[in-house]
Amino acid sequence: MIVAGPASTHLAKKVASLSGLKNIELEHKLFPDGESYFRVRSQIDKDHIFVFQGTHPPQNSNLLQLMLIVDGLKGLGVRRVSAVVPYLAYARQDRRFLEGELVSLDTVLKMLKASGLDKILTFNIHSPKTLETSPIPVENLDATGLIASHLLQAGVHRPLVISPGKKGEEMASEVASILETDYAVVTTDRDRATGHVTVSLDADPRGREVVFVDDIISTGGTAIGAVQLCKARGAERVIVCCVHALLVDGADRKLMDSGASFVLATDTVPNEYGVASVSGLLAARLTRELS
Ligand code: R5P
Repeated sequence: MIVAGPASTHLAKKVASLSGLKNIELEHKLFPDGESYFRVRSQIDKDHIFVFQGTHPPQNSNLLQLMLIVDGLKGLGVRRVSAVVPYLAYARQDRRFLEGELVSLDTVLKMLKASGLDKILTFNIHSPKTLETSPIPVENLDATGLIASHLLQAGVHRPLVISPGKKGEEMASEVASILETDYAVVTTDRDRATGHVTVSLDADPRGREVVFVDDIISTGGTAIGAVQLCKARGAERVIVCCVHALLVDGADRKLMDSGASFVLATDTVPNEYGVASVSGLLAARLTRELS
């Protein structure tokens, strides 16, 4: 049985219809002072429930709602609660980059554990290594192949695939191998104080169709830097892809203004470019767990 939290009703519905699992939407309202009220009006499975609640922006309230739902279901007698959290908030603050910084991901995982949550299923967490010390089991699903399949369907032919950061190589090489093409890593240097990203690329995009792929696009700063660099070096067009399309502060508009041809994303976060739905992967995963 699926219980849909307010942040991920879109995905819960799709997964329920693909998997045949029953989907229960919680009654939810906000009190005038902003506090959340939840009520379960249907009969629930007391054995195992999958709560769907992403923690994309507004992440603080989505996180708290997730904890309220999990603890509340446990209070109603549910034995096991797993959460499908397609985008896990605070995953980028997984270590102390500057002296005195708080490692927020650790706190989030501890709070979720304390709420009674038994397991988290998420997609493309920023740094999978951090999960080795998680106090709660986290299964990290991968939507990279899904993006590549959609590019194939869109007729993208032998592009140069580029991806940023140290782990970019893994993502770029996976997409490139599905598209049977070459790839390169975009080197990034982020100013920790201002957030400004400087990018460089050791490959020749001249006359090429370029696919930029990243796990998260938030402000769009990294992607915009890569698009501008490729266009300045003569790329024919640049397609921007990501798993988690946070797209804060009009990042999509800024991307198009910088010369991107189009944006392709998954629906881990509700967004208008999320054509590569993770619902099929989730339906298969949940069905397997229950069989
Ligand atoms: C960073 O390590 C991530 O993979 C993304 O590149 C980053 O989070 C994107 O953020 P923004 O869109 O704000 O540049």
